[in-house]
Amino acid sequence: MSNTPTSDEFPVNSQTFVEWLRRVAPYIHAFRGRTFVVAIEGEMVKQGFLNTLAQDLSLLHAMGMRIVLVCGSRPQVEEQLALRNIQPQFHKGWRVTDKAALECAMEASGELRLDIEAAFSQGLPNTPMAHSSMRIISGNFITARPMGILEGVDLQHTGLVRKIDVTAIAQSLNNNAIVLLSPLGFSPTGEAFNLTLEDVATSTARALKADKLIFVSSIDGVYDEDGVLIEELELDRARELMQSPHQDEQTKDYLECCVLAVQGGVERAHIVPLKLDGSVMLELFSHDGVGTMVSEQNLESLRQATFDDAGAIKTLIEPLEINGTLVRRGRDRIERDIEHFTVLEHDGILWGCAALYPYPDESMGELACLVVHPTWQGTGDGERLLKKVEMEARKMNLKRLFVLTTQTSHFFQKRGFVLSDLEKLPAERKRMYDWTRKSQILIKQL
Ligand SMILES: CC(C)(COP(=O)(O)OP(=O)(O)OC[C@H]1O[C@@H](n2cnc3c(N)ncnc32)[C@H](O)[C@@H]1OP(=O)(O)O)[C@@H](O)C(=O)NCCC(=O)NCCS
Repeated sequence: MSNTPTSDEFPVNSQTFVEWLRRVAPYIHAFRGRTFVVAIEGEMVKQGFLNTLAQDLSLLHAMGMRIVLVCGSRPQVEEQLALRNIQPQFHKGWRVTDKAALECAMEASGELRLDIEAAFSQGLPNTPMAHSSMRIISGNFITARPMGILEGVDLQHTGLVRKIDVTAIAQSLNNNAIVLLSPLGFSPTGEAFNLTLEDVATSTARALKADKLIFVSSIDGVYDEDGVLIEELELDRARELMQSPHQDEQTKDYLECCVLAVQGGVERAHIVPLKLDGSVMLELFSHDGVGTMVSEQNLESLRQATFDDAGAIKTLIEPLEINGTLVRRGRDRIERDIEHFTVLEHDGILWGCAALYPYPDESMGELACLVVHPTWQGTGDGERLLKKVEMEARKMNLKRLFVLTTQTSHFFQKRGFVLSDLEKLPAERKRMYDWTRKSQILIKQL
């Protein structure tokens, strides 16, 4: 029997599937062992998306990610109140949780917990959950305090997170379980308090110093003033948008949580749309994501390489060395030359590099090893790396930049390099010219 997958198994052709799997491999390596707090609105369960979310989170868990799931319950609480003919009460956007409303909140959370446990217990053959044996652990992980009296209105059992039991959550995660938190907490006096999903998720992510906080929300993400979805937001810009009259209250609330989380040591906070099937996976495993990500700095950063980047640089350039596009460099040579390299990093993964070798006596510099990972070529990264190297060269007072290339001369010509000859190179570089490669020589005036 042939081992080749049939087209039924892989609706996209099998080569595309393999390429896709290889493309997401760096993310899988990078995310293994990382802690993600995933906060879902109760709306997601109401709209029937719980099973697919459980399948996606189980897969992430199987790939080694540590998952804390926080599930909101607003529509479910509303349903319970309606069943009992109780009018919901709010003050300044906060629910006033009297005894009856608290009962509704507890009822709603209990039901949701059972639904979630059921969803994670799926294991039918021929479904994404086959062979999965997922353990969901929930408990009294959250200590709450009353919100108190706001402008003369007693919010009663509406509370705020006071403390998260980090040790107990970490123990459960270490035991390979998914931790489930509901928006309820308990005070040392033994009372229950109704909390918000946003507060529980943000406080937990901060307390755990999670790698990611992901809100799966009824907003798609954050839009700028022109209505364009913003993929990445630095903290300063996120703070600015929190004050903007163009943003609605819900977006501002989510932005505030993301800012609080990142300020509190969470590496990245994301807002992704709940109505898009697989949005958590798409956000994690695609370069641009599908929602908005908030981080301390622009993620797509160009920076000076460090010794730790040598392995990733080698992996990036090796295929091009094998096919003859680039001269072979051993890892030791990369390590020795590491200070000459600039790297392009996105979300902790290295996507591109370039090296600058100065020849100060001739006021020249050599641009070498300019590479962008094939997946992300054609989106301007090559040009950005080149500009960065040109900027560095100018800082060093170099007047001309040259490059030796066998296959990329048009790329450089389009960017101001002109074909030249060996005589124009610094004497030392001339001596090292490899006549077997017969590279073209291009020079640019800076
Ligand atoms: C050259 C390279 C770094 C460009 O990276 P990139 O991120 O795709 O570059 P950009 O997105 O900024 O620019 C893309 C443009 O360059 C063009 N381009 C890419 N490779 C090219 C090549 N070998 N020859 C001519 N043009 C090329 C693309 O067609 C595209 O053109 P357009 O703007 O007219 O559509 C990338 O193709 C690469 O890694 N190549 C292999 C390594 C290599 O040859 N390095 C140079 C020798 S040091």
